[in-house]
Amino acid sequence: MGNKNISMAVIRRLPKYYRYLADLLSKDVQRISSKELSEIIGFTASQIRQDLNNFGGFGQQGYGYNVEALHKEIGKILGLDRKYRAILIGAGNLGQALTNYTGFRLAGFETIAVFDANPKMIGLKIRDFEIMDSDNVEEFVRENDVDIAIVCIPKNGAQLVADKLVRAGIKGIWNFAPIDLEVPSDIIVENVNLTESLFTLSYLMKENLEG
Ligand code: NAI
Repeated sequence: MGNKNISMAVIRRLPKYYRYLADLLSKDVQRISSKELSEIIGFTASQIRQDLNNFGGFGQQGYGYNVEALHKEIGKILGLDRKYRAILIGAGNLGQALTNYTGFRLAGFETIAVFDANPKMIGLKIRDFEIMDSDNVEEFVRENDVDIAIVCIPKNGAQLVADKLVRAGIKGIWNFAPIDLEVPSDIIVENVNLTESLFTLSYLMKENLEG
């Protein structure tokens, strides 16, 4: 099943479908119509049919969607049918919070090491991880088959760290530093910016606050 022609807008909606379908599965729901799915997810039924048609029409007229099959297929499309090995760089407030969250591992993303540049941090423990010296990150990535780097350092220095990671063969970067990293086109960078989300909240609240 080629994913090449699926638009980014659809891809961005898939994790939400996946999450709701997992929830339905945990409640033993076996099938669901696009209308019912629409009521819980909030997308229109026609949007849902259109989105899911991209992957070969799981829905059957009069039956709806088989929840388990659809969940499995979307998981496959998202690449969640495999495991990822991750490292985290920048063991400050954000880095510690992410390291302490166990949900990523349950979803197949296992952190295998944590790095920081501050000598006072090196050797301290977060969960089971002894914080390692980020001077050694390049060597570690080379030797340990790391797929993803989670970057939680300030924007100064983030590009340098990204350059090292790329040299070492990293495949993806989950970037929390507020900077657009420059990497070769075959390296995937996914930026997370909570401030942008907060600004969206502000925009959406504006009318109510002013009204
Ligand atoms: P923090 O100051 O608590 O932690 C940063 C850590 O990175 C420190 O332990 C520091 O020693 C380490 N560090 C700095 N330069 C490094 C380098 N070159 N290599 C390895 N380690 C290095 O900061 P906090 O609050 O954890 O924020 C970290 C970054 O994440 C900041 O850039 C901040 O702007 C950003 N941030 C992003 C958010 C988002 O939604 N994307 C939300 C919150 C923070």
